[in-house]
Amino acid sequence: MAPRKLAAGNWKMNGTLAALAEVEALAEAHPAPGCDVLICPPAVLIHPLSARIEGRGIKLGGQDCHAKASGAHTGDLAAAQLADVGASHVILGHSERRADHGETSEMVAAKARAAHEAGLVAIICLGETEAQRDAGETLDVIAAQLAASLPEGATAANTVIAYEPVWAIGTGRTPTTEQIAEVHALLRADLGKRLSDGADVALLYGGSVKPSNAAEIFAIPHVNGALVGGASLKAADFGPIVAALSAA
Ligand code: 13P
Repeated sequence: MAPRKLAAGNWKMNGTLAALAEVEALAEAHPAPGCDVLICPPAVLIHPLSARIEGRGIKLGGQDCHAKASGAHTGDLAAAQLADVGASHVILGHSERRADHGETSEMVAAKARAAHEAGLVAIICLGETEAQRDAGETLDVIAAQLAASLPEGATAANTVIAYEPVWAIGTGRTPTTEQIAEVHALLRADLGKRLSDGADVALLYGGSVKPSNAAEIFAIPHVNGALVGGASLKAADFGPIVAALSAA
């Protein structure tokens, strides 16, 4: 089994019911893409979106879940609740959650375990800050984040890893192809040592992916897709990225 190609859209805290038309437009423009397509809208939109795009092959995901299965955790969502309304995936450990909510890699691993128990694919996000890159620490930071964020029981079927350099998110700046290749090669080698099917884990790049740079990024070894923020909000932007990955 080779890693499955995945074009994933992270809507972050953007979009209302009116935005669901964009996903319908995406499905109409790309009825049979040559890759998996995933939209992770704000959680309140998962259920209405699942009804609107039923049978169109687009997968849905959450942007976070709690490590516990249920209980007194006001404002949080359990993995099983996401699954119940139609999610197949959940993004975990995004740098915005690590920064805004103090999430550590150990917390991310606990959340990933909960996601797996609920039958969700965990998309575990890793990435260095600009200061860490400037200090030459990128590979050490990524290796340490992977080691601590990957839960026991992770497999290629239930886990996706997304490399998102913090300084590339929402900035329009992207690493060079060599910089992306170096990190993805490290991830592939490390996963190969940790998991029996580590060669098959899908590795996504994220950070200012857009139609104009998608094909170049998808040609990099061990890049199996993208986690896309801003350019996933409109079908006119996300569609060409899906097409570029399908053709890669
Ligand atoms: P942008 O594509 O907007 O840079 O965001 C990337 C991201 O954080 C996806 O999770």
